[in-house]
Amino acid sequence: MIPTIEWQDNHVRMIDQRKLPCKVEWFICRGYKDVIRAIETMVIRGAPAIGVAAAMGLALGGLSVRTASYDGFRVRFREMAAAMIKARPTAVNLRWAVERMSSLVRNMAGKPVAEIKQALRQESQMILEEDIEINRRMGRNGQKLVPKKASILTHCNAGSLATGGYGTALGVIRAAVEAGKKVSVIADETRPWLQGLRLTAFELMEDSIPVTVIADNAAGSLMRRKEIDLVVTGADRIAANGDTANKIGTYQVAVLARENGIPFYVAAPLSTIDMSIPSGDQIPIEERSGEEICRIRSNMFGPSGVIARNPVFDVTPSRYITAIITEAGVIRPPFKRELHKIFRKAK
Ligand code: MRU
Repeated sequence: MIPTIEWQDNHVRMIDQRKLPCKVEWFICRGYKDVIRAIETMVIRGAPAIGVAAAMGLALGGLSVRTASYDGFRVRFREMAAAMIKARPTAVNLRWAVERMSSLVRNMAGKPVAEIKQALRQESQMILEEDIEINRRMGRNGQKLVPKKASILTHCNAGSLATGGYGTALGVIRAAVEAGKKVSVIADETRPWLQGLRLTAFELMEDSIPVTVIADNAAGSLMRRKEIDLVVTGADRIAANGDTANKIGTYQVAVLARENGIPFYVAAPLSTIDMSIPSGDQIPIEERSGEEICRIRSNMFGPSGVIARNPVFDVTPSRYITAIITEAGVIRPPFKRELHKIFRKAK
């Protein structure tokens, strides 16, 4: 699989995911503003990948600061971090990565600026590498939940392209295949950006994992016909009670899974869990332009002037979630108690 994002000399390049699968093109970021633009415009997307991009963006920003004074550097870095955090609101990994980079700058108070710049670049590379390692661990934990032969439904793209590599939900699927299980995947197309059709199907086909794409509104029917054994999705933010924000449409998949007695799993790293908010009601939900609903690439399908709403994430209440798969293990209800336990241990 081609890397989602990487350093190249003194710039960062990322696969332009808006163009996949038709074209594999690199989007070059020479400064932190290029990275903000890339996140805002969906060149790179997926919660953990956005976190990695934000970290690399701030390292790029750091490199461009022209001062030898620590205080001057810190003021400028704070401004860049504040701008980066606003790029997209829902995925908490973005804030997590910005905070990690900012605390590195704080902890190096008084050190030469050149040293801080070097450390920021190294830290961003470490965040990328850790993410891949975390996904592999999550995969090993999650694959145990997959029967020897299984048809798995997933929504959106929570694969290599949405992370540093390997994927969260697709990481569980990859690990199940690596463990010798006979897995086939049903991928929701995922309107309006078609991450399921364009990205999930592309990734799985590259790995020769059987995949069938369905229209989003076909999921319930397939569940009722017993064609799906389990659901696994990623997450953009998980509240302290387990309520989970993920790509719009996830909520209805979870409700349908419950109605049909099918387990619904969420695979996400601990960096996606936001213990500062008690429930999903506090998760900010991004709302993008209604144009994205009416237009596919340059083709307009709606009547001119039609009003369209485009909330791009929804919140699945934790009562619909069978388990949350993390790098620290599989967490089962009651989520409020179990998540607190995991975070107490992690400290
Ligand atoms: O709008 P996107 O494409 O950034 O939304 C992505 C998702 O909702 C993913 O399911 C989520 O970020 C998990 S990615 C491992």
